[in-house]
Amino acid sequence: MPEVHISTHPLVRHKLALLRHKETDSKKFRELVKEIAILLAYEATADLEVEPVPIETPMAPSQGYHLKETIGLVPILRAGLGLVNGVWEMMPSAEVWHIGLFRDERTLRPVEYYNKLPISPTVNVCLVLDPMLATGGSAVATVDILKKWGARRIKFMGLIAAPEGLQRFTEAHPDVPVFVAAVDDHLDENGYIVPGLGDAGDRQFGTA
Ligand code: PRP
Ligand code: URA
Repeated sequence: MPEVHISTHPLVRHKLALLRHKETDSKKFRELVKEIAILLAYEATADLEVEPVPIETPMAPSQGYHLKETIGLVPILRAGLGLVNGVWEMMPSAEVWHIGLFRDERTLRPVEYYNKLPISPTVNVCLVLDPMLATGGSAVATVDILKKWGARRIKFMGLIAAPEGLQRFTEAHPDVPVFVAAVDDHLDENGYIVPGLGDAGDRQFGTA
């Protein structure tokens, strides 16, 4: 069964409502994307492996834990960049690998325009970051790219999914767990999520 985690955290719900609001300006929007990303990352990384390490506190020798896994953040340009800001603060040693895709407005199909992945994977876990899972085309294409690259363990983290996109994604990649803040009602005839939040890229970058 595909794993789909829809956050029920009160802070996520509160901040998501502010994010959706049409009066929320670009600066506030970016702040909220970053804050929600931190909260979702907490949930999306709950099963990462740790290993024991000896430490010395000012009081006594003790034992702590160290993250065993290496993590790659894979934002889908452009809108995924806002999620990197929050997650990277929590995991400053993560590598960041950008994938550039835009959705053709007519066909709604993803068009790849940037990919600088190295020849083979350098990390154990890839966390794909994109605020919107609408038709699912961009997320499916990105995970296709990562799997061809050789990535073994992949997770998807986003803000809002449409039921249509979620179904398409989990059918295409049932092994990739999904972490989102909400699953909305439907897609409109232009492929926008309703009620959604509008265009996540334009709202972050002030390009509406
Ligand atoms: C948006 C969003 C996703 C994609 C989702 O990006 O950030 O990448 O659409 O739609 P899909 O699930 O139907 O593929 P967009 O193509 O608008 O590009 P942008 O991030 O540069 O604004
Ligand atoms: N991309 C967005 O930014 N918003 C949507 O609702 C759908 C795709």
